[in-house]
This record gives sequence, C-alpha cells and structure tokens, in this order.
Amino acid sequence: MLTFASCLPGSLLLWLLLLLHLGAASPQDSEEPDSYTECTDGYEWDPDSQHCRDVNECLTIPEACKGEMKCINHYGGYLCLPRSAAVINDLHGEGSPPPPPPAPHPNPCPPGYEPDEQESCVDVDECDQALHDCRPSQQCHNLPGSYHCTCPEGYRKIGPECVDIDECRYRYCQHRCVNLPGSFRCQCEPGFQLGPNNRSCVDVNECDMGAPCEQRCFNSYGTFLCRCHQGYELHRDGFSCNDIDECSYSSYLCQYRCVNEPGRFSCHCPQGYQLLATRLCQDIDECESGEHQCSETQTCVNYHGGYRCVDTNRCVEPYVQVSDNRCLCPTSNPLCREQPSSIVHRYMSITSERSVPADVFQIQATSVYPGAYNAFQIRAGNSQGDFYIRQINNVSAMLVLARPVTGPREYVLDLEMVTMNSLMSYRASSVLRLTVFVGAYTF
Ligand SMILES: *[C@@H]1O[C@H](CO)[C@@H](O)[C@H](O)[C@H]1NC(C)=O
Ligand SMILES: *[C@@H]1O[C@H](CO)[C@@H](O)[C@H](O)[C@H]1NC(C)=O
Repeated sequence: MLTFASCLPGSLLLWLLLLLHLGAASPQDSEEPDSYTECTDGYEWDPDSQHCRDVNECLTIPEACKGEMKCINHYGGYLCLPRSAAVINDLHGEGSPPPPPPAPHPNPCPPGYEPDEQESCVDVDECDQALHDCRPSQQCHNLPGSYHCTCPEGYRKIGPECVDIDECRYRYCQHRCVNLPGSFRCQCEPGFQLGPNNRSCVDVNECDMGAPCEQRCFNSYGTFLCRCHQGYELHRDGFSCNDIDECSYSSYLCQYRCVNEPGRFSCHCPQGYQLLATRLCQDIDECESGEHQCSETQTCVNYHGGYRCVDTNRCVEPYVQVSDNRCLCPTSNPLCREQPSSIVHRYMSITSERSVPADVFQIQATSVYPGAYNAFQIRAGNSQGDFYIRQINNVSAMLVLARPVTGPREYVLDLEMVTMNSLMSYRASSVLRLTVFVGAYTF
C-alpha cells in the first residue's frame, strides 16, 4: 500500500503514478486460480466475482488524507494531493497515452467509465477526480465518458491557453474602460456617473447631491458652479460667499454715511436730515413738519440741519412793530431822526463750503420814485469780510459770499438801503436785518 501525504509538485505527478503502477497488484495476481483468496495490499477478495478488488481507501480509511489534501483512490492504493493539484491522466492528451493502469482484472467498461460495486459501468468524473488535463486557465466540464476544457467567460482560447479578452479594445465604454481579468468595467470622468447600461456616462447634478455651495448652485455638464447672492462675492475657494463691503468701494455711495450690512449697504443721514432716494440727505423742515417746539409768540425758522424759534416781537425801542417781521421808527419820535426808518427781519440758510464768490441774497427796493437813487451797504453785523454787497442797479443789490465758510455758524447782517432823491432833497434809510445760518454740512 502506497500513500503520498506530502505536497507534490505537478512535475512529479507522472513519476508518482509510474511508481504507483509498479506498486500495484500485477494483473497476473488477479488472474490467479480461484483457489487463491488472498490479495496484495490495496485489494480485497471479492467472493462474488472471485476476483481481487481494489479497495477505495478514500472511503474506507477515516481521514485518509489530513488537512487540505484531497484523497484520490487508485488501483492498489490512494494519493493525497493538494486540492489545486491536477493528476495528469493523459487519456485525452495529444501525445501517446501511457499504458492504462494495470487493473486487477481487465476493465470491462469503455474509456471514461468505470465499474461500480454492481459491476455496471458509470461515468468517471474526470473533473472532480482531477483526471483531466485542462490548463489552470481553463474550466473542466465533465461529459458522459469524457470531459472537455473551456475558457471562462471573458476569456478566449489562443493556442492551448485561455487569454483574457481586452474588451476595452472594442470601445464598450463612453468615457474610460478598465480591463479586468475575464471582464471589464466602465468608468466616468469626474462629474459623471455610469448610466443604467453601465457603459454610458450621465451628468451628475451635484447641486442635488449636496454640492458645497454656500448660497447658489448651478449644475452644468460635468461640473457645477457656485454663485452668490447680490452683495456677496465668491470666495477664492469657489464655494463660500463673502459679504461685499460696498462702502469701501466708493465714498460717493452715500451723501453722508455708508453702513455696510450683510449683502447690502445703507446710507444714513445726520440729525435734522432725512434720507432721500436711498443715498441723499435732505433737510427736514421742522417748521413745516410740526416737529418744532416753538411757542405761540415765536416764529419757527428752519435752516440746514435744524430750526430756530425766534420771538415774533423783535422790535426794540424806539422801534414799534408793524407786522410780523417789520419794525418802524416813527418820525414823530426824535430818537428816530438818525435811525433807519424801518428794520425788516429776514432769515436764510446756506450750506457749508460753498464755492465762492456766491450770490446768496438779493435786496430789492419796493418802491421807486422818479429820480430816486438807492445805495446798498452792509451797515453792521459780524460779516468779517465773509460777505460783500454788489450793487446791481438803482433798485437792487446782491449779497455775495466772499469766502468759503464752514458751519455750524450764524451771521447777523444789517443791510442798509439808502434812498436819495436830489430833486426833492430827500434822503431815507431802511435796514434789512438778515440772519444767515450756515449748516454743518455741504448739503
Ligand atoms: C450594472 O452594474 C451593476 C453593478 O455591477 C449590476 O448590478 C447591473 O446589473 C449592471 N447593469 C447592466 C445593464 O449591466
Ligand atoms: C439811477 O439813478 C441815476 C442817478 O440819479 C439816474 O441817472 C438813473 O436814470 C437811474 N436809473 C434807473 C434805472 O432808475
């Protein structure tokens, strides 16, 4: 009895089989006369057939092969081989077949069959018993009486070997093809995914799949773009949005003060002004709007950025009030002899830093007598050279701002008109008391 329980390299297999043949019972033994009832190792006497019969050690010896070894029964013995090992049984080979294994008695079955217990011929599963010569690259298929070797799917027979088919050569894929042993796989460029047929590539809508855009996402073929709402700009990372500081872009966005806000900006105005058309500041006329706190004996005077309450009765002795803004010095009063006959109160407002010279107020004589001549001058006040009078003609003159002034500031100027009539030897003087408010701003 021969056992080979070691790991056998394939090239040794034929040699082992020959050894096995030598060790097996010789055909003469099995053809001994009936009187012999003893058989050599690996055979047992079958009284029914009156022959020595091979013992299938793989079935009768528990754990005939240890571990991962597979047991292969043979006439007169058995083999333990690695599961991957193939026993070369060159029944189907192209070379000259080796002599058939000597059997205890002639095999009554055709090639590819073997007798079973009942002496009927059953197919030998050459694939299962590793009695085939399929290459490792091939698949063995058992057939009645024989077997055949085929190539697995994705392989093609070239000569004796199965060779992987390079499916990528046949342009199966829309974008990229990766050949794999026995198969292939299509791949898509970034931004695309395999379509249902596993070959074409369809655009991925990254915006629906959590694209990292902070504000707005636009899908496009193969990619996506992030955009920002108005008032934001895209960060250089391409995803996040940064607030634009509009105020830093231009100092002309707002007439007074620009305040940056997330996504926008707003203009603010100083006290006494209201926002006009989002960027301009307009003086609030507190006298018109009723915001003023002036009493009933006062007159409300509006100016750029505020208002003033002035006493309605502003006439000082020897003047007497004749109307809301007009005081007269009665000629009957001796104190009035050297005084202007009347004082009229007027108020006006100008902004800071006006370009100069600037005409700011025109004085007009109300009545002209034939042959009369009117002269105009700044009689008193805190002008300090900031204003001068330009005579236009006999009946009118212009108050001119001579220097740029910055408010808040207040001038009170007595503008005198002297009327002379040489024919009638007449001379008269009246005063316009003008209060000029200079606002704090240029608007
Ligand atoms: C595409 O590939 C998937 C995953 O491998 C598979 O389940 C599916 O059957 C394939 N579809 C087609 C049309 O080949
Ligand atoms: C202005 O006064 C002068 C001098 O009296 C006179 O000659 C002239 O006609 C007057 N002009 C007008 C427009 O009244």
